[in-house]
Amino acid sequence: MSSLILHAAGVHKTYLLGQDKVYVLRGASISVHRGEFVAIMGASGSGKSTLLHLLGALDLPDRGTVTFEGQNVFGGSASERDRYRNLHFGFVFQFYHLLPELNTLENVLLPAMVRFGLLDWFKERSKLNRRAAEVLELMGLKDRFRHRPNELSGGERQRVAIGRALINEPQVLLADEPTGNLDARTGEGILGLLKALNEKGQTIVMVTHDPKVASAAHRTVNLVDGRIKALDE
Ligand SMILES: Nc1ncnc2c1ncn2[C@@H]1O[C@H](COP(=O)(O)OP(=O)(O)O)[C@@H](O)[C@H]1O
Ligand SMILES: [Mg+2]
Repeated sequence: MSSLILHAAGVHKTYLLGQDKVYVLRGASISVHRGEFVAIMGASGSGKSTLLHLLGALDLPDRGTVTFEGQNVFGGSASERDRYRNLHFGFVFQFYHLLPELNTLENVLLPAMVRFGLLDWFKERSKLNRRAAEVLELMGLKDRFRHRPNELSGGERQRVAIGRALINEPQVLLADEPTGNLDARTGEGILGLLKALNEKGQTIVMVTHDPKVASAAHRTVNLVDGRIKALDE
């Protein structure tokens, strides 16, 4: 049995829309073990992105807990959460969220710059450049280092985004509809890449509304009425 790495218990999240409360998560719980590839499936608007953001400490729950390696993720200050996120998580989003003025290599290096800060960055620079080059080769982007996002295809942009997510060797990769903006074939390529990373040990949590996409994972859970229901646990 593999070890528990990330655990959400009874998580609630409500948004205020004008005067109205929108109840999105109503006691969602999920356990992720080291080395797993888990898909969270649910209809559009069911709260998948909200849950993924809570797992990665991008947002705070109203109620409930998230623990990472047994530690309360929301126990510390906002800057401690930023540090936690930067060190342990890689994020991949549907619309890539690359910085348009930076080239491929610079986009990938960004989380490493945040991690090391200015001074250490200069000390570590050549090592990190080598690491970025390795990651980009793994992503099949060897000949695209100097391209800007608008000079890349959708599939290439998403591979840059995955490279950026991997640069700090995250414990968990969180992917939000990573193939949602890609044609079927390009999407399969991205899923193949995620599967290969998982086979090498990368823990992955991916959200999707598409059962075909979810089938890339080992295990799928369903988000219904603000709670997680297991499909095949
Ligand atoms: N910042 C926000 N303010 C108000 N409502 C929000 C906010 N973010 C999400 N919602 C609402 O919460 C619900 C769940 O959103 P989301 O987690 O993005 O769903 P999914 O990713 O499953 O499509 C939706 O009804 C959405 O409109
Ligand atoms: Mg979403």
